[in-house]
Amino acid sequence: MAKKTVVSFRLNQADVDVLVEPRELLIHTLRDKLDHTGPHIGCETSHCGACTVDLDGMSVKSCTVLTVQCADLDVLTIEGFAKGGQLHALQEGFMQEHGLQCGFCTPGMITRAYRLLQEIPDPTEEDIRYWMSGNLCRCTGYQNIVKAIQYAAAKLRGEVVETSHPMMAEVTV
Ligand code: FES
Ligand code: FES
Repeated sequence: MAKKTVVSFRLNQADVDVLVEPRELLIHTLRDKLDHTGPHIGCETSHCGACTVDLDGMSVKSCTVLTVQCADLDVLTIEGFAKGGQLHALQEGFMQEHGLQCGFCTPGMITRAYRLLQEIPDPTEEDIRYWMSGNLCRCTGYQNIVKAIQYAAAKLRGEVVETSHPMMAEVTV
């Protein structure tokens, strides 16, 4: 067994130190040692994106990153999005536009969409579909995920937003 080392990084703006073997994947460290179980594991071939986190300003699939590679970096997971009980615009958008069903892909989807909106605040539908192509969903057919991201983009630009989903129109946030 390889020698374990302590790795220090920032997780959702809090300092963490964790003892890991060099082979340990970031997704396992997050889920099994740091109780951040929002990022999920949906494959072993780097396709599904359920494990997506933001690592120092980049979307990464945390099943393809070793924890030792994260020393001194900033890691953002879905658990870091809501502030003071207030949902992030993307979380609100996914709820209002019914952009999730089973919810398994949702943490990765929202974290990837966050990076998209940092880079392109006013994305076209084509931009959204292209940028989100590393994240697979078995439930929604993607259509409402596109609308959820458009909702969040508009809200973050300061525009007045309303759900386009008839069943969600009655829900207040
Ligand atoms: S678990 Fe599927 S890409 Fe990471
Ligand atoms: S909501 Fe079920 S996989 Fe996306």
